[in-house]
Amino acid sequence: MSETPQPGTAASFGFRNVDASERQGLVNRVFATVAERYDLMNDLMSGGLHRLWKNDLIAQLNPPRNDQAFRLLDVAGGTADVTLRYARASGPNASAMLCDISPEMIAVGKRGVHEAGLDGRIAFTEGNAEALPFADRAFDAYTIAFGIRNVTHIDAALREAFRVLRVGGRFLCLEFSVVQVPILDRLYDFHSFEVIPRLGQAIAGEDVPYRYLVESIRKFPNQERFAAMLREAGFERVSYRNLTGGVAAIHSGWKI
Ligand SMILES: C[S@@+](CC[C@H](N)C(=O)[O-])C[C@H]1O[C@@H](n2cnc3c(N)ncnc32)[C@H](O)[C@@H]1O
Repeated sequence: MSETPQPGTAASFGFRNVDASERQGLVNRVFATVAERYDLMNDLMSGGLHRLWKNDLIAQLNPPRNDQAFRLLDVAGGTADVTLRYARASGPNASAMLCDISPEMIAVGKRGVHEAGLDGRIAFTEGNAEALPFADRAFDAYTIAFGIRNVTHIDAALREAFRVLRVGGRFLCLEFSVVQVPILDRLYDFHSFEVIPRLGQAIAGEDVPYRYLVESIRKFPNQERFAAMLREAGFERVSYRNLTGGVAAIHSGWKI
């Protein structure tokens, strides 16, 4: 049974209901608008916490530091923030493919990778997480950071993640989640709905994309539900770890 809306049915775009077939276009417009300021806004909106969470993701991935070959697929990789951290933390034969649906985000990512002198280790492909343009079992690991909640058919994206991983390969997802600490959840609500859209307006001249970003967090399945979706897609030894009281979580699964 499908867990997410099918084309022709309603899907949530933040707190709005839209036709599922229109949703990706709306998401793409958000990222086309925010691409150039994405990294700066991430720092301002999370107070720099996203950097610690991403470092945690790479620590869990634990890519080889020696000369062993390793192929990572970083889906919804955007400005390459995660991909660059991976490349810096791994050995010379650890390569990455960054796949993202937004040409604007990819353009910013390519610039950063070039400036870091890592073009030889990180390649880019424009593509949709729901229908990845890669062969079966092509990768050792799959990461997706703050990307899966933007995907309309999450179940399709998870099936694709499973398909492109080799047997023994690992799936890791970093995503905003459900806060588990009573007072923190109220502070977090205030920050999300009062502070972030105003920051978006002040810094980027737009509040609408930032409203979508915070609203879409609230529509995403909670920790347990998302873990169940991973199992439904075929992953085993599924686990998750809350970060900052559940503001974000890292889900892990293996293709065995
Ligand atoms: C919040 S950004 C995250 C970027 C990066 N992973 C990071 O953590 O900094 C979300 C990214 O998801 C991408 N995206 C949205 N829908 C997608 C889809 N269906 N397939 C692939 N990428 C998608 C957007 O273009 C955007 O670059």
